[in-house]
Amino acid sequence: MRDVTESTATDAVVGQLAGCENPRLKQVVASFVRHLHAFVRDVEPTEAEWLAAIKFLTATGHMCDDTRQEFILLSDTLGVSTLVELINNRKSPGATETSVLGPFYVEGAPDLPPGASILKDGSDADLLVHGRVHDAAGAPIAGAVLDVWQTAPNGFYDVQDPNQPAMNLRGKFSTDADGLFDLRTIMPTPYPIPHDGPVGALLTATGRHPWRPAHLHFIVSAPGYRTLTTALYFEDDPYVDSDAVFGVKDALVVRPTPHVLGKSVHYEFGLERAG
Ligand code: BEZ
Ligand code: FE
Repeated sequence: MRDVTESTATDAVVGQLAGCENPRLKQVVASFVRHLHAFVRDVEPTEAEWLAAIKFLTATGHMCDDTRQEFILLSDTLGVSTLVELINNRKSPGATETSVLGPFYVEGAPDLPPGASILKDGSDADLLVHGRVHDAAGAPIAGAVLDVWQTAPNGFYDVQDPNQPAMNLRGKFSTDADGLFDLRTIMPTPYPIPHDGPVGALLTATGRHPWRPAHLHFIVSAPGYRTLTTALYFEDDPYVDSDAVFGVKDALVVRPTPHVLGKSVHYEFGLERAG
């Protein structure tokens, strides 16, 4: 096509997709082009601004390695990770809400007996977390596995911090015949997502902070049920209403109650049938 104009540029690109044999790819690329062109028409970037955008994406790629995924952080902080999660986890009544997995999940956490502490550094637990896993009708699910992980008081996960023992603050617990579980840990603390790269610079430039409210991550699984990736948040947390990655849902916010250990949290996780 010759003589592309402002008004024909979009159709010119989409038209060149006529030979694409993969219908889903064709749909995705055509939609991406239409939305990208609409964005450019809306913003009317200068050429210097467009180059700055390309430099930002280039720096985002350069920040990535085996342990740092800056594009996922970009997706998280723009709310895209949560939107994709919401679209893919439209849940049935009785099932617990999902929340972001985050980049710090590690497979292979130790299987621990009921009531065990997930602290591996010898320090004392001050939080009891107990509850039940049930199906959509409320019936207990025996033998469900809760894979739990959280940060240490310094705001780092074990994998970010060479001073923590491996698998510190991680463990897997199974429910009993009544679907009950309990574990001991410490109160998690709020922590900033990694913000020493381009995503952190964008947050600062746009007047945003990088903090996540304190939370306990869970992956709850049981044969025949859809695996639930979620997290529990705390009502009085200073960042509970301004999570940098938009993971908080009201149904996942708990209020700890006083307990001989310090505090206690009770939560009931609902799983929906697979398939
Ligand atoms: C997390 O909760 O571990 C997390 C989620 C998104 C970005 C960074 C961390
Ligand atoms: Fe986290």
